[in-house]
Amino acid sequence: MANQYIRPIIITIDGWSSCGKSTLARELASRLGFVYIDSGAMYRAITLYFTRHHIDWTDMGQVDRALQHIELSFHFNAELGRAHMHLNGENVEYLIRDLSVAERVSDVAAIGRVRDFAVAQQRRMGKDRGIVMDGRDIGTVVFPDAELKIFMTADNDIRVARRFLELRDKNPDITEADVRSNLETRDYIDSHREVSPLRQAHDAIVLDNSNLTPQEQLDIALGWARQRALAV
Ligand code: CDP
Repeated sequence: MANQYIRPIIITIDGWSSCGKSTLARELASRLGFVYIDSGAMYRAITLYFTRHHIDWTDMGQVDRALQHIELSFHFNAELGRAHMHLNGENVEYLIRDLSVAERVSDVAAIGRVRDFAVAQQRRMGKDRGIVMDGRDIGTVVFPDAELKIFMTADNDIRVARRFLELRDKNPDITEADVRSNLETRDYIDSHREVSPLRQAHDAIVLDNSNLTPQEQLDIALGWARQRALAV
């Protein structure tokens, strides 16, 4: 199906940690000719900055000052066919995937000022529509008027196994127990925080990909997207 029949809509993909949101979002965007935005990478990059600069994030004065020195941008890497997160001009795409960042990110992402900072940028990125954005609050808070909202979930053990394989490549010392504990802690904090907690938007469609291949989940989501994006 040619892209000229597809109008630029907003597709949001929210859900639990490590359930394959970014894989689906990236493929969906590429097939529709849309831009993929990984909102989690923004919170991870902010966390990396706070850690490197020893920011005490319980002190809102320090948080406000630090945010003034943070510039986030995505740069498309043509060779890899995907965008990389840059923090103040530095490519931090690989650093932000480390467990040391994952262990802190949910605390940082629970801070209202941090969310205001990230959400303002996310809304600017979506102003012309034609995007797929994944995260925790994209369909509920960032783009409540999105044309297609997907809420992703997968069995706990499957999520742990997938993320363990991903992280073990770079860090042979990592254990499955480390990964499980990180996922459980993040899911708890993300769904219990006061500001923009993770929850399913009332108009989101649930996609449980426990027993789906990446191709099968893509086909399902493409069907939903085309229904909504076909020009009228
Ligand atoms: O890829 P994974 O599911 O592990 O997580 P991520 O999308 O990289 O997000 C990392 C963390 O950022 C989450 O655990 C949340 O604490 C936070 N986050 C958020 O609060 N809101 C978003 N829209 C995206 C991420």
